[in-house]
This record gives sequence, C-alpha cells and structure tokens, in this order.
Amino acid sequence: MTNFPKDFLWGAATSSHQVEGNNIDNDWWQWEQTGHAHEPSLEACNHYNLYESDFDIARSLHHNAHRLSIEWSRIEPKKDQWNRNALEHYRKVIRALRARNIEPLITLHHFANPLWLSQEGGWLNEKTPFYFERFVEKVIAALGSEVRYWVTINEPMVLAYHSYILGIWPPERKSFNECHKVIKNLIDAHKRAYLKIHDIYARNSWRRPIVGIAKNLQWFTPCNHFPYFFNMVPVILRDTIYNDYFLRKTRGSFDFIGVNYYARGIVHFSLKNNSGLLGEDCNALHQHSKNLNSLGWIIAPQGLLRMLLKLKPYKVPLIITENGICTHDDTLRWKYIWGHLQQIKRALDLHIPIQGYLYWSLLDNFEWAHGFAPRFGLVEIDYHTLTRTVRLSALHYSQFIEEALQ
Ligand code: BGC
Repeated sequence: MTNFPKDFLWGAATSSHQVEGNNIDNDWWQWEQTGHAHEPSLEACNHYNLYESDFDIARSLHHNAHRLSIEWSRIEPKKDQWNRNALEHYRKVIRALRARNIEPLITLHHFANPLWLSQEGGWLNEKTPFYFERFVEKVIAALGSEVRYWVTINEPMVLAYHSYILGIWPPERKSFNECHKVIKNLIDAHKRAYLKIHDIYARNSWRRPIVGIAKNLQWFTPCNHFPYFFNMVPVILRDTIYNDYFLRKTRGSFDFIGVNYYARGIVHFSLKNNSGLLGEDCNALHQHSKNLNSLGWIIAPQGLLRMLLKLKPYKVPLIITENGICTHDDTLRWKYIWGHLQQIKRALDLHIPIQGYLYWSLLDNFEWAHGFAPRFGLVEIDYHTLTRTVRLSALHYSQFIEEALQ
C-alpha cells in the first residue's frame, strides 16, 4: 500500500465556541443561558487562555498541523464595532502554532453567530453574506500574511439542517422554505469569502492562499425494514441534497475540500417528521450495529473511502478536516482512528489527492446541544480543574505520525 506523503498534514481540530470559553456575545451563549442546551458552555476548556500549553501538547504528539476557528462575535461583538484586541489575540495564537512548527488551518465560521447578527435574522437575512464578507475582510487584512489555509464555513448543511429543519439548534426553526433560503445565503457567503480572500492576497502579493470549506459527508444506506424500496428515496435525496448540493453549487470556488466524516447514516422512508421525504434516521434501532459511539452514531470506516471516491471528480486536493469518535473506551478511539487511516491509505492507492488528516478533537470539548458529556478528545479534560491528560489513543496516533514522517 502507498505510504503517506512526507508533507502530509497531521494533527487535530477544535472550534472557538467549543473550547475557548466565555464567548458571551454569540447566539449559542444566549441559547445556552436560556436553558436550551443540555448545559451551558461557560468557560469550556479555557483554551482562550491556555492555548500555548495546549499547543505544547499537540507538538509533543508530533502534530504538524492544527485547525481552529476564529470567533466572529469576539472580532465584531456589536454590529460595526471591531475589536482589535481580539484580532491581536488570534495573531498570537497563530504565531504560537508557527513557533511549534504547526501549520494553522483557520476556519472563519463554525456554527456560532454574533448575537447582533442572529437578532437581525441570522442566515435567513440576505444581508448576512455581505456581513460575513466584511468580517472576512477584516480578519484577512489583519492575519492573512501569517496564514495559508482558510476554511470559510464549517458544515453549512449541518447548520442549515439542525437549525432550520430539525429545529434542535438555535434559532430552532422547522421550515423547508427557510432552510432553502439559509442554504442560498451560505453558498453566497462562501463564494464571497473565497473571492475576497484571494483578492486580498493578490493585492498584497502574499503567497497564494489555499481556501476551502469543511463539508460534512455521511455514508447513507437504506434501512432493511419494509418498505425497502421506498427506503431508497431518503437515501438518494439525502445523498443529493445533504452530501452533494453545496459542493455542486460552489464548484470552482474552493482550492480544496475539507472532509468531515464521522459515521454512516441508516435511514428509512417516513412522512411523519418534519424532514419529510428525507426520511428518518434509524440509527437508534440498535439491531443495525453494535459499533456505535457514545451518541449512537454508527462507526463505518469504509464509508470514508466511499465519500473520498465521490469527491474525486472535483479534481481538487482533499484534507480530512474532521474525523473522530466520542467514547469512554479509549481503545475503541484508537481502533477508530487506525481504521479510518487505513481507508485513507486505500484512497491514496487510488490516486485520490489527500493532503492531511485532522482528528476531531485535540481536546474534549463542548459538544453543542449535548454539552460536555461526549468525549471526543485526544486529550481528556477534567472540567472541575481543567487539568489536561493525554490519552493513550493520542500516543498511538502520535507514534503512527512519527512513523509516517520517517
Ligand atoms: C462539527 C463539530 C462537532 C463534531 C462532533 C462536526 O459536525 O464540526 O463542531 O463537535 O462534528 O459532533
């Protein structure tokens, strides 16, 4: 089998709201404070202050890349009010990575929105792509010279689906029509950001940036239950809408595709819930698999290869920007990572241009509506003391990286 390329990016990922703590000016904070999430994020992992020692850990684990996100609500806490100190903070964060020879991959939007924006309608507002572009411009002008890899928007379809179809994330809407508008605005925002970033780099004669999105992909298969034939309807629709639509609509405006892959989705036909023809997940029917993470998602490494094959026609490099498991069984965590790395090797054999693998996540963190219970980290967090403990799986992964880089 092909070996991993020597310049492969190896590391892990986080996002601002999930690890920093005290992101008091965003819509998630507000939603948590009003009792909607399982528990509020509060100081989370206090990564906002502890980033240097966290990056020391990443370095000690042989990571040479790290993905994190910039918190829009810190940069623009009130409409049109720009916080220079927050930009300076992220400059220090990026330099702290560089000082450890870790390549930064920076996400510009990872689910949370400034509160002022959500009060103006959030992603339903057709001005939001413009507001996003303005934010991107500020960030790139300040930090562009120090960063090569940018991820515009994290998992647009997950955001749209959870917030505007299932209604389980803020602003808890359940409307196809609204969801459609939100997706349109996210597409527009991504395209604007892509052009803006390239434009600023060109004007400053900085080395060409590498700009992409992080796209969640799920391997959908039909439930074996009656009516099997009809169960293919949601499979086909989900694959077309959830997996493909955003990429098709933004073709030509990404230099790489970031792949976020976690699990397989087994679905059956149903007109009962608000997702209509998209059917229902039947992951919860445990007879399908014993191979589940602690949130009940079905572990299926072979699905990663299928998703990577699906992306081949786009003819752009791919980076696994997220892949991970929440579990209390750390042996299972390493088995999960190893299993997915084998699929990546197979994909490299098939000449799929994969350039990196970032495990989700470096740290245990705030898992959105579920709170802190799901444990995704290579590094365990004790939320009483904020003590970090490197897990055995992190050491196995580290050794794997070391061997791959030799
Ligand atoms: C998101 C992360 C999240 C992870 C695990 C991805 O969909 O980008 O923010 O923590 O999945 O659910």
